[in-house]
Amino acid sequence: MSETNGMLAGKTAMITGASSGIGEAAARLFAAEGAAVLLMARREDELNQLAREIRDSGGRAEISAGDVSVAEDVQRAVDAAREHFGTLDAAFNNAGFAGEDLSLLHELDQTVFDRTMAVNVNGTWNCLRAQIPVMLQAGAGAIVNTSSTAAMGATGAPVPYVAAKHAVLGMTRAAAAEYAPHGIRINTLVVGTTRTDMIDQAVEAYPHLGTAFVARQMQKRMADPIEIAQAALWLCSNRASFATGSALAVDGGWTAG
Ligand SMILES: NC(=O)c1ccc[n+]([C@@H]2O[C@H](COP(=O)([O-])OP(=O)(O)OC[C@H]3O[C@@H](n4cnc5c(N)ncnc54)[C@H](O)[C@@H]3O)[C@@H](O)[C@H]2O)c1
Repeated sequence: MSETNGMLAGKTAMITGASSGIGEAAARLFAAEGAAVLLMARREDELNQLAREIRDSGGRAEISAGDVSVAEDVQRAVDAAREHFGTLDAAFNNAGFAGEDLSLLHELDQTVFDRTMAVNVNGTWNCLRAQIPVMLQAGAGAIVNTSSTAAMGATGAPVPYVAAKHAVLGMTRAAAAEYAPHGIRINTLVVGTTRTDMIDQAVEAYPHLGTAFVARQMQKRMADPIEIAQAALWLCSNRASFATGSALAVDGGWTAG
């Protein structure tokens, strides 16, 4: 366990896509930093296992299994956070879907576009719509949406994913403007290539991607999920009190190159 500073002491945080990768790393980190965490993803067994591990380490964690593209599932998760912990101070809207099919746009199955939009765009929308009313009541809150270098241009990822992450960035900026007067900060992480299931599956399907993914970065390696989670932690904490509407690049220098 790395050094902790109680950066989220006394706060409740909801994390989506918490069953693996960046979301799982954030769940462990946020809990270690003092937050009570509400974990959401579709895989209930993985979530239960993770929540048990967090509780065994002295943290507080509850789960709400569900699909972020279904508004009722997201509302149930927000309700669960309030029931278990009394409030919702922070949210890391991190669940995402990229697909591994690199077919040209006109040959890509329509279901890939639909799923990519449903999880990344509708999912983020559903989260904001359910979380913000709770934060408005408190007059404070911090939300971090997971975007990608694919929000900045053509990375080589499938077209629907690039479009979806541009939408997450736009939604973040517009929502940040609407809710800044109400004490709610909303930011996005421009995530670079990170060693998770999502990347492992893509590299398995297209082995050349292993080097292609990092070629444009200044740091020629993939991030560890905890390195992304640390940035989400900061944005969710009071230490980021003047950060809103930002697209924080945690990408090994990709966007600057
Ligand atoms: N890994 C990378 O290189 C990379 C780069 C840029 C952005 N991202 C983004 O980071 C986020 C996390 O991805 P990851 O790399 O940790 O991958 P991952 O596959 O390990 O994790 C994705 C998580 O989202 C969950 N999820 C997927 N669809 C869902 C749905 N409909 N409802 C609820 N949960 C759902 C999965 O169960 C899993 O917990 C995603 O938004 C992804 O687009 C990842």
